[in-house]
Amino acid sequence: MNVQYQKLATCLESVRKKINFKPETALILGSGLGDYADEIQIEQTIAYTEIEGFPVSTVAGHKGRFVFGYIQGVPVVIMQGRVHYYEGYPMSDVVLPTRLMGMLGAKKLILTNAAGGLNYEFQAGDFMMLTDHIAIGVPSPLIGSNLDELGPRFPDMSQVYSEEFKKVVRDAAQTVGISLKEGVYVQLTGPAYETPAEVRLCRALGGDAVGMSTACEAIAARHMGIEICGISCITNMAAGMSKGTLNHGEVQETADRVSKQFKELITEIVRKSR
Ligand code: HPA
Repeated sequence: MNVQYQKLATCLESVRKKINFKPETALILGSGLGDYADEIQIEQTIAYTEIEGFPVSTVAGHKGRFVFGYIQGVPVVIMQGRVHYYEGYPMSDVVLPTRLMGMLGAKKLILTNAAGGLNYEFQAGDFMMLTDHIAIGVPSPLIGSNLDELGPRFPDMSQVYSEEFKKVVRDAAQTVGISLKEGVYVQLTGPAYETPAEVRLCRALGGDAVGMSTACEAIAARHMGIEICGISCITNMAAGMSKGTLNHGEVQETADRVSKQFKELITEIVRKSR
């Protein structure tokens, strides 16, 4: 058996020993959304450290656990704290939790993140639904022998973020009164924020927001045939687009400021996507 698949199988078995719960929808929570998982109807939590072979996150403010439970009656699994490529893990480990949630039964995935705005029409505090992504700044999570058990060698990526899901997200935003932006997310490795020249490059490439996660997880999930939606919280305008310098504190501050709205949006998406 393929080494990567073996690792997934070990993690799956480890989780299955602790809980027999089939999620319909999986969620990955970005900055500022971490405590959303505490507010749902929780069935059980499993710390990443309790799962054999699981990559463990090191970023301050990221809790590392799966939360199993219900949102509006929908069975969900939530990744409270994600694994980032800049932490030094191989890309196969970065997407392992995503794949694991798929193997647990999730057919839908809601990806969230904090991102820098590239589009001058945006401002800090906005929410942007991902219409597509550019992931050429990071290695593909599908490099290496194909995990045939999960999906094909050359998966189609023409509709990573499903049209149907996009409609649900637009609808949900309207219901909760959010003026939702839409655009293309560019994933770079980080951990340094971009230079102004890199920001201009990302914009020239067609990007509307830039960040350090998400696209790789979307690729791994799409490979498995999972239906995906993605939402960025624009926590700041990217480097060089506004006065001053960037820092993680500012990102966190904006994310926290709009987290209530963000949570309402996620809840409504889950409710409407059923
Ligand atoms: N760049 C990259 N990642 C980010 C940013 C940014 O400006 N803001 C939040 N995450």
